[in-house]
Amino acid sequence: AWTDDQQTGDVFRCPMDDGTTFNSSSSHANHVMTRLCGQTCGPLWSHECGSSVYTSGVCTHVGEHFQILETVIPAFQRCETFVDLLMVVDGSNSIYPWSDVTDFLVNILRKVNIGPGQTQVGVVQYGSRVAHEFRLGEHRTVDEVLQAVADIRQRGGEETRTALAINMARCAADLNSGRGGRAGAHKVLVVITDGESHDNAQLDDAVARCKSDNITMYAIAVLGYYNRRGIDPSSFLKEIRFIASDPDEDHFFNVTDEAALKDIVDALGERIFSLEGQFGKMSMAQAGFSSHLLQDGLLLGAVGAYDWNGAVLKRNPHGNLLPDPSAYGDQFPEELRNHAAYFGYSLGSLVGSGGSEVVLAGAPRFNHSGKVVSFTLDRRGNVNVLQALVGEQMGSYFGSVLLSMDVDGDGESDLLLVAAPMYCSQDAHETGKVYLYKVNTQSQALLVPKGALLPSPALNSRFGAALVQIPDVNADGFNDLAVGAPLEDDHQGALYLYHGHHRSIHLRHTQVGAGRTVEAVTQTSLVLLRSQQPMGSQQRGCDDGGGA
Ligand SMILES: *[C@@H]1O[C@H](CO)[C@@H](O)[C@H](O)[C@H]1NC(C)=O
Ligand SMILES: *[C@@H]1O[C@H](CO)[C@@H](O)[C@H](O)[C@H]1NC(C)=O
Ligand SMILES: *[C@@H]1O[C@H](CO)[C@@H](O)[C@H](O)[C@H]1NC(C)=O
Ligand SMILES: *[C@@H]1O[C@H](CO)[C@@H](O)[C@H](O)[C@H]1NC(C)=O
Repeated sequence: AWTDDQQTGDVFRCPMDDGTTFNSSSSHANHVMTRLCGQTCGPLWSHECGSSVYTSGVCTHVGEHFQILETVIPAFQRCETFVDLLMVVDGSNSIYPWSDVTDFLVNILRKVNIGPGQTQVGVVQYGSRVAHEFRLGEHRTVDEVLQAVADIRQRGGEETRTALAINMARCAADLNSGRGGRAGAHKVLVVITDGESHDNAQLDDAVARCKSDNITMYAIAVLGYYNRRGIDPSSFLKEIRFIASDPDEDHFFNVTDEAALKDIVDALGERIFSLEGQFGKMSMAQAGFSSHLLQDGLLLGAVGAYDWNGAVLKRNPHGNLLPDPSAYGDQFPEELRNHAAYFGYSLGSLVGSGGSEVVLAGAPRFNHSGKVVSFTLDRRGNVNVLQALVGEQMGSYFGSVLLSMDVDGDGESDLLLVAAPMYCSQDAHETGKVYLYKVNTQSQALLVPKGALLPSPALNSRFGAALVQIPDVNADGFNDLAVGAPLEDDHQGALYLYHGHHRSIHLRHTQVGAGRTVEAVTQTSLVLLRSQQPMGSQQRGCDDGGGA
């Protein structure tokens, strides 16, 4: 229900009523309800990283009584700006003027994306002693940090105890110190000093510990003191190069004096935050665009993953499995990678004897005509492609809706239906078409074409926009099928019913619930007419040239 700009979607619970026009078994009906309400996702849910927005998607498990059990972000990625940044600043007597140093800190920290899930900053000042000016995360906004930095007074001191300062900063970033370091954060130390350390006997050890803690060290040599006095800085520079992480050209800086610090603000900022704004493979994933419950886990479609090639993610108690497109062998050839196949737009599975399960996923924009891939996915995330089906018409959105049916109710899949709801007839009507495949889980030929269903009359219909197996409505012992056709009857929509028969269905429909009478149909509490808008081609009509 989109009632205003703020509202981002709702999920409704439909009461299941036994006094329905169809003689539906309530246990079956409840099953349908569980599947519909067990998992609900917001694929467009996003979070900010620096100046970028990541549309990773969010899913919520809903319990039997419609209560929220758990909310997960299946394709969650930390921001690349998830950084614990410590500035380690020499404030000994030889530094002059101090305001050049605080100006530098303000200018560099102005560039930082400070916030929860992003960067937090701490400042350590040292000379003979070491002081935490403020701890990691103590100031929570850029303005607070800049204010605190501008207020830092030079503490002075006769000595330059760089090793001690590095050690204390490293400990501050350590999770176990309780000083604000965060698990999983990229740790960065920036050391700014103007002279050789007095405690260089401890420097090897201090630097080695930082290395083993995976801390990235930037080191800035301020040559003002050396230049003012005409002293050779080579051993000082050697020490600062030693502190800087390798390679030195990325992590070491020297400036002629304190005032020249302003000249390296941009370069240092770029190096520290060079990752910001880079989009990862899952940053636009939209995980939860589709979902499907397996016996041993939950499948989620992530149509925006891998630059809109799409991906299928499996969640089970052991974690997430996310095979990348190359795991499907030659199903997604390199030359079609940037064509936005939308793999994972639809999901399903085929259950064989003994409960073995084959995964199905549709890519309705693959090579313009759509594709469905059937595969197995083992515990380690290894993919074994069994068979692929391809669409016959450009832009038909073949594979955007999938349904595997167990017609005889023996627990095994008998029939696979693949819809191409935007399939166009010769006279340019968007009729839609549903393809049938006989399922043989025992055989090499897993899926064998068995004809197709079409609406009648073949006018604008978008037949196949929703497919649902329904309990036996004609009491012949076989489950039946309902097909939604939302554009039929001048966009009022229609519902086609097909009777199941043994391990298949009768190809002639038996009932069309027209939009006008659909109230009666919906009383059966079967929520059939999902409006799953195909992104990027919502309004495509048959006569506007097709295309993708
Ligand atoms: C409805 O189903 C019940 C239980 O399966 C059965 O006893 C009854 O005969 C059915 N009624 C009709 C009208 O088919
Ligand atoms: C440092 O990184 C290595 C390799 O990525 C990892 O194995 C190790 O556990 C990390 N150490 C710490 C303390 O995070
Ligand atoms: C200091 O850095 C500049 C580049 O910014 C470089 O050309 C110069 O050689 C460096 N000086 C020393 C002494 O390392
Ligand atoms: C894509 O479609 C074209 C035209 O229908 C066909 O010739 C080509 O083989 C297809 N490519 C793949 C990788 O399926």
